[in-house]
Amino acid sequence: MTQDELKDAVAAAAIDEIRPLLGRDVVIGIGTGSTANCFIDRLAALQGEFRGAVASSEASAQRLVSHGIDVFELNEIGTLPVYVDGADEVNAHLHMIKGGGAALTREKIVAACAQRFICIADASKRVERLGNFPLPVEVIPMARSYVARELAQLGAEPVYRMGTLTDNGNQILDCYDFAISDPLTMEARINAIVGVVTNGLFAARGADLLLLGSKDGVEKISAA
Ligand code: A5P
Repeated sequence: MTQDELKDAVAAAAIDEIRPLLGRDVVIGIGTGSTANCFIDRLAALQGEFRGAVASSEASAQRLVSHGIDVFELNEIGTLPVYVDGADEVNAHLHMIKGGGAALTREKIVAACAQRFICIADASKRVERLGNFPLPVEVIPMARSYVARELAQLGAEPVYRMGTLTDNGNQILDCYDFAISDPLTMEARINAIVGVVTNGLFAARGADLLLLGSKDGVEKISAA
Protein backbone atom coordinates (compact mmCIF):
# COMPACT_ATOMS: atom_id res chain seq x y z
CA MET A 1 0.00 0.00 0.00
CA THR A 2 1.21 3.53 -0.70
CA GLN A 3 1.39 6.15 2.04
CA ASP A 4 -1.59 7.92 0.45
CA GLU A 5 -3.61 4.70 0.60
CA LEU A 6 -2.68 4.29 4.28
CA LYS A 7 -3.84 7.84 4.98
CA ASP A 8 -7.14 7.12 3.28
CA ALA A 9 -7.51 3.86 5.22
CA VAL A 10 -7.13 5.61 8.58
CA ALA A 11 -9.52 8.35 7.42
CA ALA A 12 -12.09 5.66 6.64
CA ALA A 13 -11.53 4.08 10.07
CA ALA A 14 -12.05 7.49 11.70
CA ILE A 15 -15.37 7.85 9.90
CA ASP A 16 -16.48 4.52 11.41
CA GLU A 17 -15.28 5.72 14.82
CA ILE A 18 -17.14 9.05 14.83
CA ARG A 19 -20.33 7.90 13.13
CA PRO A 20 -22.10 6.85 16.36
CA LEU A 21 -21.41 10.35 17.77
CA LEU A 22 -23.12 12.19 14.93
CA GLY A 23 -26.51 13.85 15.03
CA ARG A 24 -28.27 16.85 13.51
CA ASP A 25 -26.96 19.22 16.23
CA VAL A 26 -23.42 17.84 16.35
CA VAL A 27 -20.41 19.93 15.34
CA ILE A 28 -17.06 18.14 15.11
CA GLY A 29 -13.48 19.42 15.20
CA ILE A 30 -11.30 18.90 12.14
CA GLY A 31 -7.53 19.13 11.90
CA THR A 32 -5.07 20.08 9.21
CA GLY A 33 -2.74 18.28 6.82
CA SER A 34 -2.84 15.60 4.16
CA THR A 35 -4.31 12.90 6.44
CA ALA A 36 -6.97 15.28 7.78
CA ASN A 37 -7.74 16.14 4.14
CA CYS A 38 -8.51 12.46 3.45
CA PHE A 39 -10.87 12.54 6.43
CA ILE A 40 -12.58 15.73 5.18
CA ASP A 41 -13.07 14.19 1.75
CA ARG A 42 -14.72 11.11 3.26
CA LEU A 43 -16.82 13.24 5.62
CA ALA A 44 -18.49 14.82 2.61
CA ALA A 45 -20.52 11.62 2.16
CA LEU A 46 -22.06 12.06 5.64
CA GLN A 47 -23.66 15.44 5.01
CA GLY A 48 -27.06 15.70 6.64
CA GLU A 49 -25.93 13.42 9.49
CA PHE A 50 -24.26 16.27 11.41
CA ARG A 51 -24.49 20.05 11.70
CA GLY A 52 -20.99 21.03 10.62
CA ALA A 53 -17.40 21.46 11.70
CA VAL A 54 -14.89 23.71 13.42
CA ALA A 55 -11.61 23.78 11.47
CA SER A 56 -8.10 24.19 12.82
CA SER A 57 -6.91 26.15 9.78
CA GLU A 58 -8.11 28.32 6.93
CA ALA A 59 -7.01 25.56 4.52
CA SER A 60 -9.19 22.93 6.19
CA ALA A 61 -12.10 25.38 6.44
CA GLN A 62 -11.89 26.00 2.69
CA ARG A 63 -11.79 22.28 1.94
CA LEU A 64 -14.82 21.67 4.16
CA VAL A 65 -16.75 24.49 2.49
CA SER A 66 -15.80 23.15 -0.95
CA HIS A 67 -17.63 19.94 0.03
CA GLY A 68 -20.67 21.93 1.21
CA ILE A 69 -19.98 21.29 4.91
CA ASP A 70 -20.87 24.23 7.19
CA VAL A 71 -17.92 25.67 9.11
CA PHE A 72 -18.46 27.37 12.48
CA GLU A 73 -16.33 29.66 14.62
CA LEU A 74 -15.19 27.88 17.77
CA ASN A 75 -16.61 30.69 19.92
CA GLU A 76 -20.09 29.96 18.58
CA ILE A 77 -19.92 26.30 19.56
CA GLY A 78 -18.19 25.56 22.88
CA THR A 79 -17.49 21.88 23.50
CA LEU A 80 -16.98 19.45 20.63
CA PRO A 81 -17.64 15.71 21.03
CA VAL A 82 -14.63 14.79 18.93
CA TYR A 83 -11.56 16.20 17.17
CA VAL A 84 -9.88 14.28 14.34
CA ASP A 85 -6.38 15.21 13.19
CA GLY A 86 -3.07 13.84 11.97
CA ALA A 87 0.35 14.05 13.60
CA ASP A 88 3.98 14.34 12.60
CA GLU A 89 5.08 11.93 15.35
CA VAL A 90 3.20 9.97 18.00
CA ASN A 91 4.55 7.85 20.88
CA ALA A 92 3.11 5.05 23.01
CA HIS A 93 1.48 7.53 25.41
CA LEU A 94 -0.23 9.18 22.41
CA HIS A 95 1.83 12.30 22.97
CA MET A 96 2.45 13.93 19.61
CA ILE A 97 4.52 16.40 17.68
CA LYS A 98 2.26 18.44 15.42
CA GLY A 99 2.57 21.62 13.40
CA GLY A 100 4.42 20.52 10.30
CA GLY A 101 1.70 22.42 8.46
CA ALA A 102 2.06 25.44 10.81
CA ALA A 103 -1.47 25.04 12.22
CA LEU A 104 -0.34 23.96 15.70
CA THR A 105 -1.90 26.76 17.74
CA ARG A 106 -5.38 26.44 16.31
CA GLU A 107 -5.04 22.65 16.45
CA LYS A 108 -4.22 22.86 20.14
CA ILE A 109 -7.14 25.19 20.81
CA VAL A 110 -9.69 23.04 18.99
CA ALA A 111 -8.27 19.90 20.62
CA ALA A 112 -8.62 21.55 24.04
CA CYS A 113 -12.35 21.98 23.42
CA ALA A 114 -12.86 18.38 22.32
CA GLN A 115 -14.06 15.58 24.58
CA ARG A 116 -12.20 13.03 22.47
CA PHE A 117 -9.09 13.40 20.26
CA ILE A 118 -8.70 10.81 17.52
CA CYS A 119 -5.29 10.84 15.88
CA ILE A 120 -5.07 9.38 12.38
CA ALA A 121 -1.65 8.48 11.03
CA ASP A 122 0.27 6.07 8.87
CA ALA A 123 2.82 3.80 10.56
CA SER A 124 5.76 6.08 9.65
CA LYS A 125 4.56 8.52 12.34
CA ARG A 126 4.84 6.08 15.25
CA VAL A 127 8.07 6.64 17.24
CA GLU A 128 9.62 5.47 20.50
CA ARG A 129 10.87 8.95 21.41
CA LEU A 130 9.59 12.29 20.09
CA GLY A 131 12.02 14.71 18.48
CA ASN A 132 13.32 13.26 15.26
CA PHE A 133 10.75 15.43 13.47
CA PRO A 134 11.71 19.08 14.10
CA LEU A 135 9.45 20.49 16.80
CA PRO A 136 7.59 23.60 15.55
CA VAL A 137 7.23 26.59 17.86
CA GLU A 138 4.93 29.48 16.91
CA VAL A 139 6.37 32.84 17.97
CA ILE A 140 5.34 36.47 17.99
CA PRO A 141 7.54 37.90 15.18
CA MET A 142 9.41 40.49 17.31
CA ALA A 143 10.38 37.76 19.81
CA ARG A 144 11.80 35.34 17.25
CA SER A 145 15.52 35.82 17.98
CA TYR A 146 15.02 35.91 21.74
CA VAL A 147 12.95 32.71 21.67
CA ALA A 148 15.54 31.04 19.42
CA ARG A 149 18.27 31.78 21.98
CA GLU A 150 16.11 30.36 24.78
CA LEU A 151 15.33 27.21 22.77
CA ALA A 152 19.05 26.71 22.17
CA GLN A 153 19.53 26.82 25.95
CA LEU A 154 17.06 23.92 26.19
CA GLY A 155 19.19 21.87 23.80
CA ALA A 156 17.38 22.49 20.52
CA GLU A 157 18.74 23.79 17.25
CA PRO A 158 16.04 26.27 16.21
CA VAL A 159 15.68 27.20 12.55
CA TYR A 160 13.42 30.00 11.30
CA ARG A 161 10.87 28.61 8.81
CA MET A 162 11.40 31.31 6.19
CA GLY A 163 8.38 32.49 4.22
CA THR A 164 5.81 30.87 6.55
CA LEU A 165 3.24 33.01 8.32
CA THR A 166 0.67 31.21 10.46
CA ASP A 167 -3.08 31.83 10.22
CA ASN A 168 -2.53 33.99 13.33
CA GLY A 169 0.08 36.21 11.62
CA ASN A 170 3.03 34.70 13.53
CA GLN A 171 6.27 32.94 12.60
CA ILE A 172 7.57 29.40 13.14
CA LEU A 173 10.87 28.18 14.60
CA ASP A 174 11.57 24.49 13.93
CA CYS A 175 13.66 22.80 16.64
CA TYR A 176 16.10 20.30 15.13
CA ASP A 177 18.24 17.73 16.97
CA PHE A 178 15.96 17.86 19.97
CA ALA A 179 15.73 14.59 21.91
CA ILE A 180 12.57 15.01 23.97
CA SER A 181 12.68 12.56 26.88
CA ASP A 182 9.89 14.20 28.93
CA PRO A 183 7.29 15.70 26.55
CA LEU A 184 4.97 16.95 29.33
CA THR A 185 7.71 18.96 31.04
CA MET A 186 9.21 20.23 27.80
CA GLU A 187 5.81 21.37 26.52
CA ALA A 188 5.32 23.49 29.63
CA ARG A 189 8.91 24.83 29.63
CA ILE A 190 8.73 26.02 26.03
CA ASN A 191 5.31 27.57 26.54
CA ALA A 192 6.75 29.56 29.47
CA ILE A 193 9.23 31.42 27.21
CA VAL A 194 8.02 34.97 26.65
CA GLY A 195 7.04 35.44 23.01
CA VAL A 196 6.06 31.80 22.43
CA VAL A 197 2.46 31.46 21.30
CA THR A 198 2.50 27.69 21.57
CA ASN A 199 4.65 24.70 20.71
CA GLY A 200 3.90 21.57 18.72
CA LEU A 201 4.15 19.14 21.63
CA PHE A 202 0.73 17.72 22.34
CA ALA A 203 1.39 15.94 25.65
CA ALA A 204 -0.75 17.77 28.22
CA ARG A 205 -3.61 17.11 25.84
CA GLY A 206 -2.55 14.05 23.87
CA ALA A 207 -4.76 11.84 21.76
CA ASP A 208 -7.32 9.48 23.29
CA LEU A 209 -7.21 7.06 20.39
CA LEU A 210 -4.69 6.46 17.62
CA LEU A 211 -5.80 4.90 14.35
CA LEU A 212 -2.51 3.71 12.87
CA GLY A 213 -2.39 2.47 9.30
CA SER A 214 0.10 -0.11 8.07
CA LYS A 215 0.15 -2.75 5.35
CA ASP A 216 -1.48 -5.12 7.86
CA GLY A 217 -4.51 -2.85 8.33
CA VAL A 218 -5.63 -0.13 10.74
CA GLU A 219 -4.73 -0.70 14.38
CA LYS A 220 -6.73 0.97 17.17
CA ILE A 221 -4.33 2.05 19.92
CA SER A 222 -5.22 3.65 23.26
CA ALA A 223 -2.72 5.57 25.38
CA ALA A 224 -0.24 3.37 27.33
C1 A5P B 1 -0.50 20.55 10.74
O1 A5P B 1 -0.03 21.71 11.32
C2 A5P B 1 0.02 19.34 11.43
O2 A5P B 1 -0.09 19.32 12.79
C3 A5P B 1 -0.49 18.06 10.84
O3 A5P B 1 -1.49 17.47 11.59
C4 A5P B 1 0.64 17.16 10.75
O4 A5P B 1 1.70 17.88 10.15
C5 A5P B 1 0.35 15.90 9.97
O5 A5P B 1 0.23 16.21 8.62
P1 A5P B 1 0.11 15.09 7.52
O6 A5P B 1 -1.17 14.38 7.76
O7 A5P B 1 0.12 15.87 6.22
O8 A5P B 1 1.31 14.23 7.64
